Amino acid sequence: MTKFLDLGAQPLANSYIIKKNLNKKEKKFNLSAGFNKKNYLVSILKTVSKERMFNSDYPYKSSESKTMRSSFKILANKIKKIYKPKLVVEIGSNDGAFIFNFDKKKVIGVEPCKNLARKTIKRKYKTFSNYWDVKLSKKISKINKADVIYSANTLSHIEDLDKVFKAINILLSKNGILIIEDPSLLKCISNTAYDQFYCEHIYIFSTISLRKIISKYDLEIFDLENLTTHGGSNRYYIKRKKCNIYKIKKSVEMEVKKEIKYGLKKLSTYKKFSKKVKSSRKKLLEIFSRLKNKNIIGYGATAKSCTVLNYCKIDGKFIKYFYDTTSYKINKFLPGSKILIKKYKKLNVKNIDYAFLGAWNFKKEIFNKEKNFLKKGGKFITHVPFPKII
Ligand code: TYD
Repeated sequence: MTKFLDLGAQPLANSYIIKKNLNKKEKKFNLSAGFNKKNYLVSILKTVSKERMFNSDYPYKSSESKTMRSSFKILANKIKKIYKPKLVVEIGSNDGAFIFNFDKKKVIGVEPCKNLARKTIKRKYKTFSNYWDVKLSKKISKINKADVIYSANTLSHIEDLDKVFKAINILLSKNGILIIEDPSLLKCISNTAYDQFYCEHIYIFSTISLRKIISKYDLEIFDLENLTTHGGSNRYYIKRKKCNIYKIKKSVEMEVKKEIKYGLKKLSTYKKFSKKVKSSRKKLLEIFSRLKNKNIIGYGATAKSCTVLNYCKIDGKFIKYFYDTTSYKINKFLPGSKILIKKYKKLNVKNIDYAFLGAWNFKKEIFNKEKNFLKKGGKFITHVPFPKII
């Protein structure tokens, strides 16, 4: 593993601070990333224990985003129509945004964060509130094998990939398919979206790395879709090598070619990326310094923005407060930068000149919502793909 990126000392991205703890010392860890030349895997170098990140305080709820709800619904309909599964298992079922699209008898959720698992259990959807592992997989297999295993933005959060795929192999039916969806390394690197790196994102997968990793478990990618969610993700359709029902589609080779052409197999690409990250910080700070006397707020107190704010050392002097729609985050403070998060209100040029797009991955949805603000001369600041005012 060769280190190529250092984003400095960072707090845990999703550990929003309550007022009474504002003066308490925060636990920080060094956020750096490395490249493994053998399997092309990019990962953060120092990890935080899963219990510290994924517990009953976990704030991210996929149903709170219209974009995610709609993406899950479309996929669920496709799964029902094409694969006609008797049992679907979702690893990382969060608050049910995906599994609620299925008949209760035909779907099982796995969600270690108890606050989220409670939401699906309450609606009588079978949910195991455990971390994904071999023991759990064996337990579910006793109920039935899964014809579809789905996992969105979860497998890249689990350190031991060997155990992840061993457990999947136990549960997947003979001709079953595994669908994995995670941020795309190609998108991350080509957009200088260095904020995809934070404690929870242990890995940022590329097709070439995932293909190598799963091959050991007799699995192969047979189809692939580029998604716009989470700033550019890939959805991989995976089958057992022995299963001949599904042909390997051109989409896989096309993505592999794109990745190799961009240089994802070469360390020099990541070194170049690291230089671009430094220059992105410089440019973003220049923008903030230029706008010193303006009313600037943050829009979307994301885990991603935690990386940006702490790496660039942007705090309450630059951004007055953040707006966010997630009830859990409201009246709390962003880790590290300690900027207050307020309940979202439509942006108004009367008291806001600029909004820093913390949730840049929802730019389309947000710009649509804030049409009036933009029409009246309100502006956004973004750092992706490079720092600029929009
Ligand atoms: P997310 O995209 O999941 O980012 P991360 O994984 O980096 O935390 O989070 C989006 C956040 O942005 C979430 O807290 C909700 C917030 N948000 C708004 O406040 N308003 C909006 O219109 C949208 C789309 C999101």
